[in-house]
Amino acid sequence: MKFISTKMFKRSCLYRATVLIAFSGTLTTYAQDRKIDRRVDSLMKLMTLEEKVGQLNQYSGREVTGPVSEKKTDVLQDIRTGRVGSMLNVRGVKDTREIQKVALESRLKIPLLFSLDVIHGYKTVFPIPLGEAASWDLNAMRLSAQIAAKEAAAAGIHWTFAPMVDVARDPRWGRVMEGAGEDAYLGSLIAEARVKGFQGEQLGSVESIMACAKHFAGYGASIAGRDYNAVDMSRQQLWETYLPPFKASVDAGVATFMNAFNTLNGVPATGNAYLQRDILKSKWNFKGFMVSDWGSIGEMIPWGYAANEADAAVKAITAGSDMDMESRAYIDNLAQLVKEGKVSLKWVDDAVRRILYKKFELGLFEDPYRFSNFKREKKVFSDPAHRVAARELAKKSIVLLKNDQNILPIKNDVRNIALIGPLVQAKRDLEGSWIVESDSVNVVSLIEGVRNQISGKTNLIYAKGAGVLSSSEDSFAAAVEAARKADVVIMALGETWDMSGEAKSRADIRIPGKQEALFEAVKATGKPVIVVLMAGRPLIFDKIAAEASAILYAWWPGTEGGNAIADVLFGAYNPSAKLPVTFPRSVGQIPLSYDVYNTGRPVKDPANTRYKSMYIDSPNTPMYAFGYGLSYTSFGYSDLKLDSTSINQNGEAVLSFRLTNTGKVTGEEVVQLYIHDEVASVARPLKQLKGFQKLALKPGESRELKFTIKSELLSFYDNDLNWIAEPGRFKLMVGSASDDIRLQTNLTLR
Ligand code: BGC
Repeated sequence: MKFISTKMFKRSCLYRATVLIAFSGTLTTYAQDRKIDRRVDSLMKLMTLEEKVGQLNQYSGREVTGPVSEKKTDVLQDIRTGRVGSMLNVRGVKDTREIQKVALESRLKIPLLFSLDVIHGYKTVFPIPLGEAASWDLNAMRLSAQIAAKEAAAAGIHWTFAPMVDVARDPRWGRVMEGAGEDAYLGSLIAEARVKGFQGEQLGSVESIMACAKHFAGYGASIAGRDYNAVDMSRQQLWETYLPPFKASVDAGVATFMNAFNTLNGVPATGNAYLQRDILKSKWNFKGFMVSDWGSIGEMIPWGYAANEADAAVKAITAGSDMDMESRAYIDNLAQLVKEGKVSLKWVDDAVRRILYKKFELGLFEDPYRFSNFKREKKVFSDPAHRVAARELAKKSIVLLKNDQNILPIKNDVRNIALIGPLVQAKRDLEGSWIVESDSVNVVSLIEGVRNQISGKTNLIYAKGAGVLSSSEDSFAAAVEAARKADVVIMALGETWDMSGEAKSRADIRIPGKQEALFEAVKATGKPVIVVLMAGRPLIFDKIAAEASAILYAWWPGTEGGNAIADVLFGAYNPSAKLPVTFPRSVGQIPLSYDVYNTGRPVKDPANTRYKSMYIDSPNTPMYAFGYGLSYTSFGYSDLKLDSTSINQNGEAVLSFRLTNTGKVTGEEVVQLYIHDEVASVARPLKQLKGFQKLALKPGESRELKFTIKSELLSFYDNDLNWIAEPGRFKLMVGSASDDIRLQTNLTLR
């Protein structure tokens, strides 16, 4: 007879209960899905072909985020006659209610979906997504998306065009600011966090909105960093580097996808059946819907992929683009194309079904106005917790790039501080691109943030010195004079908010205007100069990198930006951010990422560089590497152990090591795990990020950390696109940055 302890009994009951709950949960979802399916079916039976096509049509409101269509359309009349399924760029309770009312005058009274680019906040502005990514703090990013969703949902929005999950390795491309940086692994986890943040537990809550993984796919690899350009890459590269964050979004339950402006190996993403039908809707079994990018169906004509608008409509719907944003190609052509037998009704029905499903899921048929609520809008907008969260994430996003002789943090009773530069008083710039309902007067500028933290004894001296883009040195003298009077100088330099973002590619990514010359003039006073850089992309600033006493990279930090920067400057927060993207030394190195190959001719000995894979005028290494970022404390890595030096395909090994705070203040470290497959059937990068942990330690405190290594982490796409782990030796590396590996060992896969 077997005895079972009380503890075991409780545990087994708990287990059974958990299984039952999980199972009944699945059943409920299944039952709900079927119920919605039936409602969609009955509605579709009532719809004319024209009404079906109407559901696939999306117009923009008065504010536009793309080229305005030359077609003259009476939008309200189209809504009233069932020719519109969704509106973008309409927001606020008043406007969404008014327009929804018009939709309810249509024959079938199908409510509209209101969509908007809620990218890094709605009323409260969080750091730009690339800045948030530098925090490597998934919970904080999830919270940021959740707050943005809550604010937007109260103002009538059902659907955001975010997150942008494009991997981007070219800082010339202005949209690098909108994503999570250059890495597939980090990018996938951030994609998941953001999707879950926007959507909450389940669609239908009035505190969450539908997310949209965009731009499917490859957009981040636009040739030469020029926006809307062609993309050409191997399928291995596509699958290994560019698709994982999209797959992670599907796994996280993302409701919608957006396709892209680029071609992928010659075929526009919008007309690409391989991407949309084969991968997304078949292999990944995605049940949501795909919206085109702004006008991207029509843009297949200038691409030379479609002969005219009707041809573009055929190609897009057949390839799996369900909703037409602003091309007006579907509404003007699809019904006729179906009648002529040029488009199969099954594709139209499939697209309509996907869209209606979401409208039911959101509860819009029960109450088309449920998201547009004056009371909630007012209450949510004034929630002080939102600004608190924005400041938290802004602090966590600021990267300490340099700190000579521990000049930072500054003591808050320094007698004289000079604040110099065009961004010292800036407010609108700190919000970056893609803001919605925020009021820039509420932004905390750097000077206000500093003022909030200094003691009464400190005297602040301000001089602008130059504009961001100005070519004049006329105000340098006043800046130099201010520096002379100071004990320490803080300079705020960078781009203007609108120098990054969509259609903001730059061929030269140096700090613009005369700002570096201003820095040199100020530096020549001999005073310690701390530089705060603000921008939407990695900039090139070699003089500052060499000569500044300290550098903080603050991106565009949002509404609470000035306070957050001051928190770091004066040590109220110990910086913990790490770069999610490589900072090149020169434009000539671009595209540059950390996961480079060894090549057949690596430089082993710096004294012997002839016929080696290198530049004759620059090192191969970046200015600042992926994963890099300093702290006011230091961390020691020791005692590396691997519990087994070889595993089989189903096995696992545990890598453990000790992390110690060896400095004098509490700090957070982002411990990074990189893996290299030494010999494989396709050449493998020297390092790939496969895990990370972020944790806080007090001075002297130490903790044992573990990573479990399974064959999944050792896998890659072979030449036939099989995801496999090949037997052989792997290098396991643990460190503080991709170029700062502290411990390493080998593991063999049998
Ligand atoms: C952008 C999208 C955006 C859309 C709607 C397009 O130009 O590429 O990312 O969601 O406009 O504003």
